[in-house]
Amino acid sequence: MRRTGIVAGIGSAVPARTVTNHQLAERMDTSDQWIRSRTGIAERRVIEPGTSTSDLAVEAGLRALRSAGTDRVDAVVLATATPDHQVPATAPAVAARLDLPGVPAYDVSAVCTGFLYGLSSGLGLIAQEAADTVLVIGADAFTTIIDPTDRNTAPIFGDGAGAVVLRAGAPDEPGAVAAMELGSDGRLAELIIVPAGGSRQRSSGVPAAPGDHFMLMQGREVFKHAVVRMTDSARSVLARAGWPLDSVDLLVGHQANARILHSVAEQLGLPPERAFLNLDRYGNTAAGSIPLALHEAAATGVLKPGDRVLTAAFGAGTTWGAACLTWPDVSAG
Ligand code: UT7
Repeated sequence: MRRTGIVAGIGSAVPARTVTNHQLAERMDTSDQWIRSRTGIAERRVIEPGTSTSDLAVEAGLRALRSAGTDRVDAVVLATATPDHQVPATAPAVAARLDLPGVPAYDVSAVCTGFLYGLSSGLGLIAQEAADTVLVIGADAFTTIIDPTDRNTAPIFGDGAGAVVLRAGAPDEPGAVAAMELGSDGRLAELIIVPAGGSRQRSSGVPAAPGDHFMLMQGREVFKHAVVRMTDSARSVLARAGWPLDSVDLLVGHQANARILHSVAEQLGLPPERAFLNLDRYGNTAAGSIPLALHEAAATGVLKPGDRVLTAAFGAGTTWGAACLTWPDVSAG
């Protein structure tokens, strides 16, 4: 039988500091009412000065390892768009802090779709027999690349991380990814972009303008593409897995906007209550979003062993993807 990766543990981490919509409204022209009604977000977590993505990644990774009942894995894949440094990648530092020096460790950059890209990479390592166990972490600290006074972005994003441990197993075991799809369209790169800091701006000879290190987003356009791409990818993985729509117990989509997730559920024909939401407390945590939501759904009993879970994401790049799996009997703390 084909060898694949099975979800064997899950964990997450968020910073302690909370910033409410009311606090945001003190520093920009917005309101709690606008943010709640247009996004579903009430508050988000923000890292403390001096801390970074790797701190969240290590904490989420430790919890996932504990959930899997192990302290060893053969590889670490970190999905992030907010690495600690441009060079080197953040994953080796995370692996070292998890007392895993020597294992292959690398970053995957697909922004809000990052966790699904990272998961796919981890599954590939197992399928190729390059690893028997892989820790896949999604972690981002988007508040470090957002203008804290920009009402187009500051209300949406927060900091957070989640992680899963994959172990080698068979495709018919609970926890095996039944189907996965990934996609990208770089023609839409300008929809969400940090203009400065990369080789394009650095080689131009033109110093970065103030604010160019912050992320710009064309929210309305992103919204439209997100609904279409997440819905199409979700349909496609269900078809490939041979799962009828009504067999899906929970949609755990990328937590960007409650209206996006409800639209995806509606387009698919799923009742809105099957769309899991925790963005009210965390906002959009980018690569952290899906594993953070999966962990919370499992820890609170909303997602039970044996449930069929569908996940989908869309993000900068643009990138998108979906995956479906039967939830395994893992300890979610
Ligand atoms: O993870 C992938 C990355 N990101 C996303 O998935 C985000 C996708 N986009 C969105 O979630 C939504 O587009 C936003 C939440 C960003 C914006 O919501 P919207 O319903 O698309 O609002 P809009 O941009 O169409 O703006 C509607 C109005 C505008 O005023 P006028 O032109 O109608 O007078 C905006 O200027 O709301 C105004 N507005 C705000 N008002 C108060 C925009 N942002 C705010 C704000 N507070 N924060």
